Amino acid sequence: MGKLHVTDRNGDEHELEVSNGSSLMEPLRDEIDGGIEALCGGMCSCATCHVFVEAEWFAKLDPRQDDELELLEGTECFEDGSSRLSCQIIMSDELDGMRLTVAPEE
Ligand code: FES
Repeated sequence: MGKLHVTDRNGDEHELEVSNGSSLMEPLRDEIDGGIEALCGGMCSCATCHVFVEAEWFAKLDPRQDDELELLEGTECFEDGSSRLSCQIIMSDELDGMRLTVAPEE
């Protein structure tokens, strides 16, 4: 279990508990009003779970796979140094305390 510090699209901050081994997508979708849509349910095919991860945490993540990067590059607000699909990030002890911001709706 680890903590996630999330800034939503209104600029409001939330602290979420996420179990190790779970993707970040479910709590972002289920526990924050207006959090993310996650239309494809975590299949890495919609990009509606886009988040910006703060630099110090971004560096700790496994690199983006080609399909994730391709989807992100197709979004209007892609930022190379922070954009991730939250369905592709799996919680672990190393990510406890991670800070991220929900990307604007496209
Ligand atoms: S939920 Fe669709 S790409 Fe992440």
